[in-house]
Amino acid sequence: MTTTTKTPAAPGPAPAAGGTVLDATGVTMRFGGLTAVRSVDLTVDSGEIVGLIGPNGAGKTTFFNCLTGLYVPTEGTVKYRGKVLPHRSHLVTMAGVARTFQNIRLFANMTVLENVLVGRHTRTKEGLWSALLRGPGFRKAEQDSENKAMELLEFTGLAAKRDHIARNLAYGEQRKLEIARALASEPGLLLLDEPTAGMNPQETMATQELVRSIRQQGIAVLVIEHDMRFIFNLCDRVAVLVQGEKLVEGTPERVQSDERVVAAYLGTPFEGEPGESEAAEVRAAETGKQEAAEAGQEEGEDQ
Ligand SMILES: Nc1ncnc2c1ncn2[C@@H]1O[C@H](COP(=O)(O)OP(=O)(O)OP(=O)(O)O)[C@@H](O)[C@H]1O
Ligand SMILES: [Mg+2]
Repeated sequence: MTTTTKTPAAPGPAPAAGGTVLDATGVTMRFGGLTAVRSVDLTVDSGEIVGLIGPNGAGKTTFFNCLTGLYVPTEGTVKYRGKVLPHRSHLVTMAGVARTFQNIRLFANMTVLENVLVGRHTRTKEGLWSALLRGPGFRKAEQDSENKAMELLEFTGLAAKRDHIARNLAYGEQRKLEIARALASEPGLLLLDEPTAGMNPQETMATQELVRSIRQQGIAVLVIEHDMRFIFNLCDRVAVLVQGEKLVEGTPERVQSDERVVAAYLGTPFEGEPGESEAAEVRAAETGKQEAAEAGQEEGEDQ
């Protein structure tokens, strides 16, 4: 059994030097009458850590689902390294985009190591027959996979728990395991949906360092988080979603000092708020209805 302390190898799809990794254009997602994401443009460049913030229900997770093939966006395109991503999540993973989930999705009854091995399956070339016959090619591939999985467990600080059943891990460790499993697919872009939810301050700090180390591996990161200190300490750029629309985007300093962002979090209405024109139309229609009703009532009174 290897318990090397090496960091994982560079991600499979060769990281281009510089350039745009993710390019989402005009992404819109409607559920019946509800527009959860409205014409959002977002890019992530090579070597960047980009934050996506916004109040509850702003559409952040829905946007991730559109990026990763879980949802087919109603409108818009998503490109990874210049190529349009397919609307199938396993093909998106194969293309080089991996993610974690807001609601942890581990194989609860498998061990820690097995969970990471499952994450590697998109990168193993050994076919079904080789696996069934367990030939020498398969055994070598299996050993290589295990070595790589162990490197990732070292990297995320979970090596000592390799044989623990996933559901028995503490919450923060389960989140780390999700990251290890995502990294096992050797991504060029990692999407993290609330990686520190439920973590204590020490675990949150450690996760901040972990994300920095992931970037050092040549993997770009897009991260959703409600912990503002985490976001503003870590990210090169931050985009703010409010009611499905991108309200502001810029450096942490710029976003922090934007009064529209403060207002969005405090729930204070402000001029030019996304959805404000629709709200004004509804108010006008309601006022109109009320006036008509009052007029009707007066007519009734006259009779
Ligand atoms: N599958 C779905 N069907 C219908 N409505 C949905 C679906 N998924 C999300 N929504 C709605 O879309 C809106 C955006 O939800 P989403 O989960 O993307 O928000 P979020 O920004 O991730 O919020 P949070 O910070 O609470 O995780 C919400 O009004 C939600 O109810
Ligand atoms: Mg969410």
